[in-house]
Amino acid sequence: MMKKRQVEEMGTDYDSIATEYQKIKVNAIKKYSEEFTFFEALGDVRGRSVLDLACGDGYYSRALRRAGAGPVVGVDLSRQMIRMARAMEAEAPLGIEYRVGNAATLGAIGAFDLVTAVYLLQYAADEATLRGIITTIFLNLKQGGRFLGVTGYPDLTPLHLEAQAAYGIVIEPQGPLADGVVMRNTFTTADTVVRFENHYWTRPTYERIFRETGFQSIAWHPMQLSPEGRELYPAEYWQAHLQHPAIILLACSK
Ligand SMILES: C[S@@+](CC[C@H](N)C(=O)[O-])C[C@H]1O[C@@H](n2cnc3c(N)ncnc32)[C@H](O)[C@@H]1O
Repeated sequence: MMKKRQVEEMGTDYDSIATEYQKIKVNAIKKYSEEFTFFEALGDVRGRSVLDLACGDGYYSRALRRAGAGPVVGVDLSRQMIRMARAMEAEAPLGIEYRVGNAATLGAIGAFDLVTAVYLLQYAADEATLRGIITTIFLNLKQGGRFLGVTGYPDLTPLHLEAQAAYGIVIEPQGPLADGVVMRNTFTTADTVVRFENHYWTRPTYERIFRETGFQSIAWHPMQLSPEGRELYPAEYWQAHLQHPAIILLACSK
């Protein structure tokens, strides 16, 4: 049997796990549930300008551009992630601009119709950083603009944690589930094990900071399942994810 490649990485440094992350990223939950839920909540993006924070290798930046959004700017903290995004842009140009930047301190780089952030908020290690990220989102939106983000499920129970085993995911809170607690994540696929850490934030804390920053409305969208996903995998496969998810979508209007 092929030995699994072990990748250890603590904290939010994606430079060293960028390539391995690409492997775990292409999974059924991302494609048929997370991405489907994201685009269902987003609606028609044709002609809408987008700032995609924590764009990683540009997975959603490209999907948004293909759906007709533009201009699209992707920003990520990891140089390696941005290198990979730019390499894909060079290979198949879509007109996306990628920049290295920290979403917690970025400030205004434009006035966008939409700001997106799939897996960013839970990388904030403390409330000041979470507030910094939410302020950046606010500053980059036009009045009436929308933010869509996917983040860690804010009402986790032991059942939610146990349910992830069905997908090769182990999430270990490093303390009682409270704001800022470190969450140790281990993703295992056929040929790789990826470990990384992020943080737990509760629903009232997210809502308080979004409101204090100036957002008018905050809506939570549970994960849905695309018709394609329903067809490709049996209902039992989806049960754990749909009943006890590890992620949720957040939509806020300025
Ligand atoms: C799990 S990946 C998600 C990438 C992409 N959104 C996707 O769904 O494929 C998380 C990304 O967040 C980035 N990140 C973490 N903290 C950040 C920050 N403060 N500013 C910008 N990017 C950040 C990491 O470098 C990493 O690329």
